[in-house]
Amino acid sequence: MSKQRILFAASEVYPFAKTGGLADVAHALPRALAQTFDVQVVMPLYRSINRQEYAIEPIGEAFDISMGNSFYTIQLFGCIHGGVEYRFVYSPLLCEREFLYGPPDAGYEDNAIRFGIFNYTIITLLETENYAIAHLNDWQCGLVPLLLQDRSIIQTKTIYTIHNLAYQGTFEQTLLSALGINESYFTMEGLEFYGQINFMKAAIAYANTVTTVSPTYAREIMTKEFGCGLEGFLNIHRHKLIGVINGIDTQHFSPENDSALIASYSDIKGKRANKSDYLKSIALKGVNKPLFVFIGRYTWQKGMELLINTLPKIASLECNIAMFGDGESQYCEKLQELSSMYINIHFDVGYDESRAHRMYAAADFLLMPSLFEPCGLNQLIAFSYGAVPVVHHVGGLVDTVKRFEKFDPSSKNGFGIIFERPTQRSLFNAIGKAMGLYEDKHRYNAIIKHNMSRDYSWTESSKAYGSLYMSLLEEGK
Ligand code: GLC
Repeated sequence: MSKQRILFAASEVYPFAKTGGLADVAHALPRALAQTFDVQVVMPLYRSINRQEYAIEPIGEAFDISMGNSFYTIQLFGCIHGGVEYRFVYSPLLCEREFLYGPPDAGYEDNAIRFGIFNYTIITLLETENYAIAHLNDWQCGLVPLLLQDRSIIQTKTIYTIHNLAYQGTFEQTLLSALGINESYFTMEGLEFYGQINFMKAAIAYANTVTTVSPTYAREIMTKEFGCGLEGFLNIHRHKLIGVINGIDTQHFSPENDSALIASYSDIKGKRANKSDYLKSIALKGVNKPLFVFIGRYTWQKGMELLINTLPKIASLECNIAMFGDGESQYCEKLQELSSMYINIHFDVGYDESRAHRMYAAADFLLMPSLFEPCGLNQLIAFSYGAVPVVHHVGGLVDTVKRFEKFDPSSKNGFGIIFERPTQRSLFNAIGKAMGLYEDKHRYNAIIKHNMSRDYSWTESSKAYGSLYMSLLEEGK
C-alpha cells in the first residue's frame, strides 16, 4: 500500500527559521512521521533562510493566488533535508522582513495579510497535490480549515495543533474582505472574537481534530485561568480536543554525539569539562558551585517577572546563574542591570543553537519558572544533558517532570524540582531544595543517571499522531 500524503504546515521549522519550540517540533515530528506517511513540510521562505546552504531550489513557474480583491505572486521552492521533503512559499510581502513575525515587542501590522498569503498558498497545494491530511500548527495556519470548508474541499482532513494559546492571531474586522472571507463566518460560532478576526478560533471551529502539546495543557485551556478567552469555545469543541506530549530530536540533542560541545559525554563525570569551559567563557568563577541556567525567551509566559524579582535572593546563595535568550526589552534591561550588580549572574541576549547546547552540558540545574507552559522542550533537553530542571507545576511540565522527593528508578519519566505556586517564596524554596540536592551527591548522581537514560524521543508521540491521522482517514471513507 502506498503511504498516505500529509502536508505539515508551520510558520517556523528548525534549522531554517526558529524563534521557539514550534520550530523544533516542526523539525522533529515530520521526521518521525515520515517512516509511516509520505510527509511534506511547508513553511515561508523568509529572507533570513540561507538558500544555498540547504540547496533550496525553485519548483515550477511562479503563479498568482487571489485573496480578497488582490492577486499575490507566489514562487514555490523545495529541498530535501534529513530525509524530509520541504516546500517553501515565497512572496515578497510574506518573506522580505527582518523578523519572522515582527520585532521582539510587537507583531508587524500586516501580519494578517502576510500569513493570509501563506494560508491561501497552502490551500492551493492541497487542491493541486492530493493530500489526505493537512496538519496545521498555531495561528499562522489557522485559516486553512475555514478556507477548505468554504471551498467544499472535503477530501483533505485537517488536524490543528495549538502550541501556544496566548498567540491567537487577532486582527481588525475590516481585514475580512482583504482576506477574502465571507461575512457569514464572522460569528460567535466562527472566527469572530470580541469584534475581531481570530485565526486560531477559525481553526478550532473548522478543523476535524484539534490537538495541543500536552494532556495537562489540554485540560488547562478549558479553564478561565489558562483559556485566554477561548475556554468557553474550547469546551464547546472538547470532543475533538486532545493533548499529545511533545518529544525532542534525540539525535540532535545527544551529549554523546554533539559537535557543539568541547567534550562529548555519557555520564555526569563528563559534564565537568563542559562546565569549566563554559564558566571560563562567560567569566564566572566556581566550578564547584551549582550552576543554574535559563535558556529561552524573556517573556511574561516564561516567568520573567517572577525570576527577576527573585534573582537578588538567589544570587545571595553560593551558586552561579547564566541566562541566554531573546525577548522583550523591558526584561532585558532589568536583567542587564542585575547582572551588573551581582558577580554570579551572567546575562546574554541572542539566539545561538550551539551556545544553548553548551549551556545544557554545563548546567547543574535548568530554571523554568513559566507561568504557563503548553509543553516545554527545555526540560527534556535538560534531562538528556544531565541538568536537573527546576519547574513550576504547570502544563506540560506536570506531565514530564516528576518530583525528585519521590524518585523511583523504575519510572520512565525524568525527575526534577517542582514548585507549586508562581510566587517568589515558592521559587526560592525550590532553589533551596536544589542547593540541598546538589550537596547530596549520592542522590543527585542517581537522579542524573536516571534522567539521562530515559527516552524523550518522538517514538511514542508520533505514533499517537499517526493514530489520529488514521482515524481521520477512516472517517473520510
Ligand atoms: C510553544 C510552547 C511550548 C511548546 C512549544 C512546542 O513554544 O510555549 O511550551 O513546547 O510551543 O510545542
